[in-house]
Amino acid sequence: MDFILDKGGKYEVILIFEDSKELERGSDLFNYLKEREIFKGKLKEVYVDLSPRGEEIILLGLGKKDKLNYNSFRKAFHKLGKKLAEYKIPSVGIKIPKFDGLCYKTTITAVAEGLLQAEYAFDKYISDKKDKAAVEKVYLEVVEKLKEEASKAIQEAKILIEGIFLTRDLVNERPIKMYPETLAKAAKEALEGLAVKVEIFDKKAIEELGMKAFLAVAQGSDKEPRFIVMTYEGDPESDDRIALVGKGLTYDSGGYAIKPGNSMDTMFTDMAGSATVIGALKAIAKAKLKKNVVGIVAACENLISGSAYKNGDIVGSMSGKTIEVLNTDAEGRLTLADALWYAATEVKASRIIDLATLTGACVVALGNLTSGAITNDDGLMAEVKEAAELAGEYVWQLPSYPEYKELIKGDFADLKNTGGRGAGAITAGLFLEEFVNKVPWVHLDIAGTAYDAKGRDYLPKGATGIHVKTLYYLVKNM
Ligand code: BES
Ligand code: MN
Ligand code: ZN
Repeated sequence: MDFILDKGGKYEVILIFEDSKELERGSDLFNYLKEREIFKGKLKEVYVDLSPRGEEIILLGLGKKDKLNYNSFRKAFHKLGKKLAEYKIPSVGIKIPKFDGLCYKTTITAVAEGLLQAEYAFDKYISDKKDKAAVEKVYLEVVEKLKEEASKAIQEAKILIEGIFLTRDLVNERPIKMYPETLAKAAKEALEGLAVKVEIFDKKAIEELGMKAFLAVAQGSDKEPRFIVMTYEGDPESDDRIALVGKGLTYDSGGYAIKPGNSMDTMFTDMAGSATVIGALKAIAKAKLKKNVVGIVAACENLISGSAYKNGDIVGSMSGKTIEVLNTDAEGRLTLADALWYAATEVKASRIIDLATLTGACVVALGNLTSGAITNDDGLMAEVKEAAELAGEYVWQLPSYPEYKELIKGDFADLKNTGGRGAGAITAGLFLEEFVNKVPWVHLDIAGTAYDAKGRDYLPKGATGIHVKTLYYLVKNM
């Protein structure tokens, strides 16, 4: 899909509010359709009138004027993109005015994002693929004196979408192909040609680092673990460095605390945190943001075998803290414990964000729509919330009163890896806090949001690529 900032295109797309009257063209048609309740301008409504003697225009509903936000554009233009593909329309022209109260640049980004989102499909394993002729040329008639801004906005949207699609592809890939070694290779390939140094530590190197908790989880699989460190130095003069740490379970069977089959069949997505970090790094590096960012992934599989770790084990960790493994299915926090400690003490990050498909409890609390957050630093949390807002992605902070920590105090070791059924998303987050060495940190639990079997609006069925944008904007605005 190419964007051209000019008049043109085979057909014109006209934006219509549910409650507006000021139309330049198409008002007769709109009034006719509205009276008959065929098209009312509701958000995401598309009316295509291309019959040879018709008006040859397309109407796109934006909903109520006072409800308009950036996600309205993402949703509506995604729907438009799908329709254009369905009707095999090669090119369109759309006039985008400046809307009251909205930033023009962000509006254009959202418009381009929405249209580009329509191009995603994970169909590599489908033999009989549907022919998907995406629209080739989109002419955007933008506000003349904001043309420069608009052009930058489109560049940014393309970069973000590329990161998001990469994340989705990595998450959607199945564990027969996607295991620690191949995830590390994929990260290296995806970041090739960009100013990102990718270091891959094998099992021996991980042992030398003393990552005992991570290794305990990994030891049940024939596939060896990998520790992946991706360094981007956009601002070499500065000591400021943000670490993005992603949970990298390429498969989570639960281990000896084995999951029932119907909870296990999506557990190839348990590396979504790591895929998000890789996708975000790609976008950050492509946009040449002047910030220092280090992506960190402890990749392994949680399986059952004669050498797997067991419920009841006590394991060490890189930090020196010991952990009672009450449940081998609470494995993510063990791998993250060492990855976070590495971020805090080896990378010496000045801030840390981690993303993890960490708890079913978070899915129960917030569903597929909102990620749960835990922090030790309200200032950083505020920045994350702001970035998420800009991205149109939902994040909700969970309480982390110190009393919750009692639940994960160990009886025979320093900590235990579960705090019982209640407050599961909170105790999991607070477990992680034990390993950030007091560095400002935000944890995002994406167990519900990283993957959606049904899909919603511009998010396709399957991996969503959620928070690539949040991370991008967070780093950009730091
Ligand atoms: N990977 C799962 C969490 C998960 C659940 C992700 C649903 C995506 C969808 C995690 O490793 C896990 O199994 N957590 C346990 C923790 C419990 C044993 C304390 C859970 O949530 O049941
Ligand atoms: Mn698990
Ligand atoms: Zn897991």
